[in-house]
Amino acid sequence: MQRILIDTDPGVDDALAILLAMLSPELHIEAITTVCGNVPVTQGTENLLRILGVLNLEDFPLIAQGEAQPLVKPLVTAAHVHGDDGLGNVSQLRNADGSPLYPPANTSISSTSGVDIILEMVTRYADELTLVALGPLTNIAKAIRKDPAKMQGLQKIVVMGGAFEEYGNVTTTAEFNIFVDPHAAQEVFHANIPIDIAPLDATHQVVLTGERLHAETDRRSDRVSQFLKDATQSCMEFYRQHVGFWGFHIHDALPIGMLTRPDYFESVAADVQVETEGTLTSGMTVTDLRPERRHPNPNAQVCIKVAAEAFLDHFFARLQ
Ligand code: RIB
Ligand code: CA
Repeated sequence: MQRILIDTDPGVDDALAILLAMLSPELHIEAITTVCGNVPVTQGTENLLRILGVLNLEDFPLIAQGEAQPLVKPLVTAAHVHGDDGLGNVSQLRNADGSPLYPPANTSISSTSGVDIILEMVTRYADELTLVALGPLTNIAKAIRKDPAKMQGLQKIVVMGGAFEEYGNVTTTAEFNIFVDPHAAQEVFHANIPIDIAPLDATHQVVLTGERLHAETDRRSDRVSQFLKDATQSCMEFYRQHVGFWGFHIHDALPIGMLTRPDYFESVAADVQVETEGTLTSGMTVTDLRPERRHPNPNAQVCIKVAAEAFLDHFFARLQ
C-alpha cells in the first residue's frame, strides 16, 4: 500500500485521475489539496467535492484548499478546455426533479491551508509519502519554502507537467502546469527531492477517443460511467474543433498509473531546468535527452514511453 497526497486543479483529466486513485487498492490517499490552475482554486475545491460525490464514499481523504495565485506570474486558467465550471459543466446537470445530478460530496474542507496540510502529512508519513502533483506546483513550492528540510523527507513527487521533445499545449514551448507557475516548478525541481515527471511526451501517447469511451461506458449504468461521459464532453468537443480528433489526452491519469502499474512506463534520468523569464519561452522545461549528453547530476526521472493501450485497459478495468 502506497500513501499518497494528491495536489490538483480539477479539471476534467484531474477528475479521471482522482477517480482512478480512489479506485486503486494499492493507493491510500491521505489528503487531497487544491491549487489554482484550470480554474480558480475555490472552483477547484467545489469540483473536488463533486468528483468525490460520484463515489458512494463513507470515509473521505482530508481535503484542504491551497494557493489562489502563482508565486510570481498572474493566474492563467483553462475554462475554454475544461468548461466554465472546470468540470465539463456537470454542475449544470439536473435530475428529472430538478436536483443536481452531481451534488458535492457531504464532507468538510479542512480549515488548515493546503500548504500546511502538505507539511502535516509529510511530518506524519515522511518517506512513506508520495506527492502526486496534477496542477501548477505553487502549493508544493510554498511548502518547500516553509520547511525545506522536512519536504526533503518525502519519498518522491510525481509531476504531470512539462514538454521536452513535444510542442507545448499553452504556447509553442510550454505545458500548462509549468506555464502557470514556472517559478514554482524551478524551485520544486531543485529542492533535492526525488522527482518523476510525466510530460506531454508521455501523456500525448495516451489518447482516450470518444469511440473508446462510449464503447466502454454505453452498456453500463453505473454513476462513474455516466460521469465519465458527462464530464468529458466539453474537452472532447474542444479537441474535435482545435486538435483534430474526437477525444482527449487523460494527462493527469498517468502519474497515478506510474504508481499502480510502473511496468507500463519507461523513464530516463535528466537535469530539468525551467525557463521563468523568457518572452517567448516562459514555462519551457529544458533538458537534453540525447544519451551522449546525459547530465552527470540528474534531478528528475522523465517518462518518455508508455504502454498506452495496456494503460487504457488498466484505467477502465479500475473505473469499472
Ligand atoms: O497540460 C495538462 C495539464 O494542465 C493537466 O494537469 C490539466 O489538468 C491541466 O492542469
Ligand atoms: Ca490538472
